[in-house]
Amino acid sequence: MRRAIIVGTGSHLPEGVLTNADFEQMVDTSDKWIVERTGVRERHILTDEKLATSDMATAASAHALEMANMQPTDLDCIILATVTADMTCPSGAVRVQQKLGANNAFAFDVSAACAGSLLGLDIGATLIESGRIRNALVIGAESISRIVNYQDRNTCVLFGDAAGAMVLRAADETTRGVLAVVTHTDGRQWELIHVPAGGSALPGKKVTDPTLFTVHMSGREVFKFAVRALADLSHELMRRCQLVNTDIHWVVPHQANRRILEALSQKLAIPLERFIINIEHTGNTSSASVPMALDQGVRDGRIRQGEAVLMLAIGSGMAWSGAIVRW
Ligand SMILES: CC(C)(COP(=O)(O)OP(=O)(O)OC[C@H]1O[C@@H](n2cnc3c(N)ncnc32)[C@H](O)[C@@H]1OP(=O)(O)O)[C@@H](O)C(=O)NCCC(=O)NCCS
Repeated sequence: MRRAIIVGTGSHLPEGVLTNADFEQMVDTSDKWIVERTGVRERHILTDEKLATSDMATAASAHALEMANMQPTDLDCIILATVTADMTCPSGAVRVQQKLGANNAFAFDVSAACAGSLLGLDIGATLIESGRIRNALVIGAESISRIVNYQDRNTCVLFGDAAGAMVLRAADETTRGVLAVVTHTDGRQWELIHVPAGGSALPGKKVTDPTLFTVHMSGREVFKFAVRALADLSHELMRRCQLVNTDIHWVVPHQANRRILEALSQKLAIPLERFIINIEHTGNTSSASVPMALDQGVRDGRIRQGEAVLMLAIGSGMAWSGAIVRW
C-alpha cells in the first residue's frame, strides 16, 4: 500500500521576544490575566523588517530536509500554508522554492489560517497516495505580528511568529505513515476571525484606517466552536482508523489557548501529559503551530516509532483539519 510517511520535521522561531511584561506597558492587561486565560508567557516576533515569512519557512524547511537526509532538488512539491505570505502575488511557496533551490518542485500556498498546515498535509499525502509525486514539503509559516493590532488587548497578546515544516515521502507501508486526514470548513462562521482589508473586497488603496489590515476576532465564540469541533474531529479520525482514545500516544494540537487544550483533554479522556504543548513560549503561531510542536516532540524523543500521533488544528473560516499518523 502506498502511503505518505513523515521522514523529517523542522521549525524556526525568530529571535525577537515579547513577554507579558512588555504587553503590560502596551495595553491594559496583566501577566496574571494572560497566563490564567491563555497560558502564554512569551511569543517570538520577526522584528527584522528585511525578513518575511518565506525566510522563516526556508529555515524550518532546511532543518526538516536535513532530518530526512534529502536535498532540496529531491522535492516534487512544496505546499506553504500561510495567511501572511511575503506579498499578495506570487505565492509564498515560490519564494521558498527559490531560496531552497528546490528547482524540481511545483510550489503553491494554501490559505486555511491555523488549519493550513494540516490541510497541506492532507493535500501532500493525497498527491503521494495517488502516485502523482514521491516527495513533498509541507510548511506552516506566519508573521502574524505584521497583521496584529498592538492596541487591541483582545488579540495582540495571543499571537507569535514561527515556521514549522514536514517532509513527506512515498513508501510501501501497511502500518506506518499518514493513516487518515480529514478537513472541514464552515464558511457561515467566516466573520469570527477575519482581516477586513487588503483583499478585493476592501483593497488597500481605498483604506485609511490601518486597523482594518489587522486580525478581528470574536474570542469567546471561537473558543466554544474550537472545543466542540476538535473533539468531534478526533472521534471521526479515531473511528476511521479503528482506534480508541487509549491507542493515541500523543496529541499534537494547534496551540491557540491552553484552556482549549484542557477542555479537549477532558472531552477525549486523554490526559494532558500526552499533549505536546509549547504555547507558553510561542503563543498562537497559526499554521506554524502544529508542525512546530510535532518537531519538538520528535526531536526531544517523546514521539517514537510505532506510536500513534493525533494532530489537530482549527482557525479562521472556520476551517479545521486533523490527522492520525503512525510514526
Ligand atoms: C481570546 C480569549 C483569550 C479571551 O478569553 P475569555 O476568557 O474568552 O475572555 P472574554 O472574551 O470572555 O473576555 C473577558 C474579559 O477580559 C477582557 N480581556 C480581553 N483580553 C484581555 C487582556 N489581554 N487583558 C485583560 N483583559 C482582557 C475582555 O475585554 C473582557 O472584559 P469585559 O468582561 O469587561 O468585556 C479566549 O476567548 C480565546 O482564547 N479564544 C480563542 C481564540 C483563538 O483560539 N483564536 C484563534 C483560533 S486559531
